[in-house]
Amino acid sequence: MQLNFILLVSLWATILPKTSAQQSSRPYSTWLADSIISANLVPQTRWYTEATFYRGLESVYNHTSFQKYLDFIIAQIDAIILPNGSLKGWDYNDHQLDNIRVGSTILYLHTLFPSIQIYRAAADFLHDQLLNHQKRTPSGGFWHKDPKYPNQMWLDGLFMAGPFSATYASLFDRNNKTLWDDILLQFELVEQHCRNKTNGMLKHGYDESKKAVWADKVTGASPHVWIRAQGWYFMALIDVLGWFPRDHEGYGRIKGWFIWLAEALKREQDVKSGGWWLVMDEGFVEREGNYIESSGTAMYTYGLLRGVREGILDREEYLPVAERAYEVMTEKFVARNGTNRGINWEGTVRVGSLDGNGDYEYYIGINRVENSLIGVGPFLLASVEWERYQATRL
Ligand SMILES: *[C@@H]1O[C@H](CO)[C@@H](O)[C@H](O)[C@H]1NC(C)=O
Ligand SMILES: *[C@@H]1O[C@H](CO)[C@@H](O)[C@H](O)[C@H]1NC(C)=O
Ligand SMILES: *[C@@H]1O[C@H](CO)[C@@H](O)[C@H](O)[C@H]1NC(C)=O
Ligand SMILES: *[C@@H]1O[C@H](CO)[C@@H](O)[C@H](O)[C@H]1NC(C)=O
Ligand SMILES: *[C@@H]1O[C@H](CO)[C@@H](O)[C@H](O)[C@H]1NC(C)=O
Repeated sequence: MQLNFILLVSLWATILPKTSAQQSSRPYSTWLADSIISANLVPQTRWYTEATFYRGLESVYNHTSFQKYLDFIIAQIDAIILPNGSLKGWDYNDHQLDNIRVGSTILYLHTLFPSIQIYRAAADFLHDQLLNHQKRTPSGGFWHKDPKYPNQMWLDGLFMAGPFSATYASLFDRNNKTLWDDILLQFELVEQHCRNKTNGMLKHGYDESKKAVWADKVTGASPHVWIRAQGWYFMALIDVLGWFPRDHEGYGRIKGWFIWLAEALKREQDVKSGGWWLVMDEGFVEREGNYIESSGTAMYTYGLLRGVREGILDREEYLPVAERAYEVMTEKFVARNGTNRGINWEGTVRVGSLDGNGDYEYYIGINRVENSLIGVGPFLLASVEWERYQATRL
């Protein structure tokens, strides 16, 4: 019975020509998740790339309740937690926010299996590493990476540590105002230094000491708006909002920052393609070498769809934006894998850092890779939002 169903679905998928998002015969969430898992593309590490995929898969499991997805997450996480709650390969001299990301998945497993001690122990371990070992700027912002990037905050870091901190506080210390103030402070600092008040977008990061070669002499900000950094940030805002106590002043502020960015994204969406450019600053879009990037486009689409679903963003105004973007992703970034049943995710820029001078040539010089988990995870998140929305229209 089940096998027949699977055969039928895949037969369908083979016969049908490639269609637009609205008409797709098979949900892209499970289709891409299955392709990635069966192609064995997810190593058992604690790295943020895998953790970003787990976040997407968590959403697919939440939506479908297919046990195989949860089993996969459990196997991956169990393989990296040591008996004392620390994580495999942990380097006690290397403090970087990227290491914290997997904590969100660990807390998710803790909420599903509260009696399994090891998940709680690992969450405590990560929380202690963050609060007691991660260095801070003079204003209290977490360094992105110690010792490599002193006094620097990157938008990426807000997604790596923000949702984890907020979930942790919410589950274990909900009435501790100090914890919530500290979470809010992280957002406040990047808002102060990275947000362009004219166009609503945020630069990739800032250096509070203004010593980095790229640091603006006044704000400390880096020179460019990089699609993915802003995508991490957009997801961090809506995620943290979901945990934030409504009676804390931070709730309204985080919500405001999220809406402000959504407005900017709506304005900056490429009219021709429906996606967003790798480097988004005024005067750089459509420039030679720039292109519509897939991971950032997926992050924005997810945030917009979720914002609409949660009633934070106006439906009439933002749904068409997200629909366009979802369509371009399925047309441009999802590709059949030769003649077999799998699909590939294309067009995700490999990396983007503020290691060098952070200029335009740097960003466009990085190559794009196939099936990057940094793009796959957000596309799973966006797809589940899309499929939920489709289900309400039936
Ligand atoms: C794509 O096809 C190749 C050749 O069959 C296979 O080795 C690979 O695992 C597939 N990848 C995905 C993502 O399905
Ligand atoms: C999955 O569900 C849990 C429990 O409701 C929730 O906390 C979590 O945020 C959900 N995950 C995603 C990715 O939506
Ligand atoms: C946890 O165990 C590992 C492996 O035995 C060890 O290297 C590490 O120092 C321990 N960490 C703590 C915090 O005890
Ligand atoms: C709140 O959390 C901070 C950081 O973990 C801790 O130092 C402080 O003791 C907590 N405050 C209360 C009242 O529990
Ligand atoms: C801020 O946005 C405006 C409008 O797009 C632009 O002209 C200006 O150059 C931006 N400032 C910076 C520092 O990028």
